[in-house]
Amino acid sequence: MNILLAASEISPFAKTGGLADVVGSLPRELKKLGHDIRLIMPLYGAVQKNFKNIEDCRKPFEMTVGDNNYGGNIHVYKTSSGFPVYFIKNDILYARDGLYGNRIGNYKDNSSRFIFFCRSVIKACELLDFQPHIIHCNDWQTGLIPAYIKVKETENPFFKNTKTLYTIHNLAYQGAFWHFDMKLTGLPWSVFNSEGLEFFGMINFMKSGIFFSDAISTVSKNYSREIQTEQYSFGMEGILKKRKKDLFGITNGVDYSEWNPETDKHIRENYSVMNMAGKKNCKKDILEEFSLSCPENTPVIGLVSRLAEQKGLDLLIEAIPEILNTGAVIVLLGNGDDKYHSMLCRLSNAYRNKLSVKLEFSEPLAHKIEAGCDFFLMPSRYEPCGLNQIYSLKYGTIPIVSATGGLDDTILNYNPLTGTGNGFKFKKYTKEALLEKIAEALEITKDEKHKSQIIKNAMNCDFSWSKSAKQYDELYKKIVKKGLGAS
Ligand code: ADP
Ligand code: GLC
Repeated sequence: MNILLAASEISPFAKTGGLADVVGSLPRELKKLGHDIRLIMPLYGAVQKNFKNIEDCRKPFEMTVGDNNYGGNIHVYKTSSGFPVYFIKNDILYARDGLYGNRIGNYKDNSSRFIFFCRSVIKACELLDFQPHIIHCNDWQTGLIPAYIKVKETENPFFKNTKTLYTIHNLAYQGAFWHFDMKLTGLPWSVFNSEGLEFFGMINFMKSGIFFSDAISTVSKNYSREIQTEQYSFGMEGILKKRKKDLFGITNGVDYSEWNPETDKHIRENYSVMNMAGKKNCKKDILEEFSLSCPENTPVIGLVSRLAEQKGLDLLIEAIPEILNTGAVIVLLGNGDDKYHSMLCRLSNAYRNKLSVKLEFSEPLAHKIEAGCDFFLMPSRYEPCGLNQIYSLKYGTIPIVSATGGLDDTILNYNPLTGTGNGFKFKKYTKEALLEKIAEALEITKDEKHKSQIIKNAMNCDFSWSKSAKQYDELYKKIVKKGLGAS
């Protein structure tokens, strides 16, 4: 099959979170299954600066978005895995410091930026003479693509065999813009209603993706069930229930060529489940990086996170004094909302030798934390899948998580009686439940026998892409053969 994956961020080119990791690594496995895989994303300023082997395809085009006429171009990077990554170039829209915004907030013209991107994806298929059987769209930034295929391209023979899959990585970020932006989309006003892309009087890219795609998937099984309930749906439970038979949950895989303590180039010493000696050195390294000095056997709890409400930072911040009272120390790497930056700064000043934070985005430090800590904490309020807990498993860094979304699917509570389980998870989203679980984890792991059993169980888990890629493969085939679809 010809498959085009469209996303607003793809690792290693541009990344703010797990979306980039997923779209950066799934294609390699899909390629192995024999598909003609191609990727497409916007050409951001940082990508132009950091990747020198990106070539101009010499396929310039023009596009009118509202009253503006934009020039676009297609660039390409040929990966060593044998598939191309296409980039949509328009420097006015994409050559900026941030992907979606800057310190002041989201870019004001994000609707134009991603309308242009969605339309350019369609345009690029024709210019490159690539007729996709599946356009696999990801998150709100690509949510209009299914609408263009279903509404604008119905008469176009080029797309007569093209179906769309829309993957929801995070339902909270919907791409909602005021209704006047309808004129930018080039879509008819007739689709601006509840049976279309309208949601509470606004244009909603997420709703468009859910409504117009042939099938929808989420990044864990549990999340596909959760989002059909009011608690997790951000208002979308109605439409999601309506599309229930076309809604699938496929748990993310991870890229073990990037995230593996045996080969990781960012960590001080490599180690494996058979020889854990190097992990001690990695612990020293992370304590040095975060300027913490404490006895060797001090439990070190790590976090790597976008600083957003989703990640349970309110719970964490409230619980920090009591967590530190247990004798553990905390290292945290994260960036995001200003309010969390200032609260964490204040706390780290108050608990100088016990809590150390770095409020930045650093790929090498994220790897070092995975390798050097004893525990990895993810107290998320909700979590569509979560990748860090899966990385932690591989590094023998015991995850302590809230039982939600993909965290609940991937982490199994350790049972000291049976020796089964790969971590610790708490059910109620309360400070008490979090503290109780941390206390339990610290108590059980005081016994070396239990500690090494959990670590062994964790490191032997296999979340490589091969299994999940097969599930996508089956889903693509189902979509193409059975003609799943909304209308
Ligand atoms: P989400 O996509 O919701 O942020 P995931 O757990 O799926 O959560 O993925 C987060 C990804 O982003 C991981 O690869 C993680 O290491 C990375 N990450 C998050 N914050 C930072 C940071 N401050 N520095 C480096 N990497 C980060
Ligand atoms: C989103 C989710 C996260 C998921 C990631 C990749 O950003 O918040 O849980 O792992 O996408 O699918």
